[in-house]
Amino acid sequence: MISKKIQSVVRDIYDFPKPGIVFKDVTPIFKDPALCTEIVDAFAEKLAHLDIDVIAGVESRGFLFGLMLANKLNKPFVPVRKPGKLPFSIVTKSYELEYGTATIEIHTDAFAPGSRVFVHDDLLATGGTAAATADLIFELGGTVAGFGFVIALGFLHGEEKLLPFSSNIISLTT
Ligand code: PRP
Ligand code: ADE
Repeated sequence: MISKKIQSVVRDIYDFPKPGIVFKDVTPIFKDPALCTEIVDAFAEKLAHLDIDVIAGVESRGFLFGLMLANKLNKPFVPVRKPGKLPFSIVTKSYELEYGTATIEIHTDAFAPGSRVFVHDDLLATGGTAAATADLIFELGGTVAGFGFVIALGFLHGEEKLLPFSSNIISLTT
């Protein structure tokens, strides 16, 4: 099963980036091309029933499978970036993280109003990042077609923050 394979390679790093945090290190996944293909294929299968115009991937780890998935589905990819990185006009949102505060931004012409945007990130923790992304998608006139994560940290109940935007929340591992 794909969840077992993911769990077998993802490493727990204690007290990173702050004391008390158990950090899920996903980098070993990317050393295994077959597993990467399996993950992209698993997302593609689980998304098949959804009506999606665009895939949005959140910097930085959300770029990795986000672009692979967009390419597999032949959909446009939109980067959701950390502050000060996007060169064109932007919308911006600040929010709380498991280990601090953060800000994300999207280009104002990232997608056409009315687009159905699927939000991808590697990991769901508190849901702050994905919810802020959803807020920006709404601000730009889009709707959230769903959310997809490689890992969801269930004990932080991030899904509760996302349900107001979409009930299509796909996590390959919890
Ligand atoms: C991590 C992860 C998600 C976010 C999840 O990103 O990749 O984007 O935290 O946390 P949340 O559900 O509590 O919002 P991070 O900010 O560590 O940046 P990185 O992807 O650049 O490593
Ligand atoms: N992002 C937020 N919390 C995280 C965690 N525990 N591990 C990896 N990425 C994270």
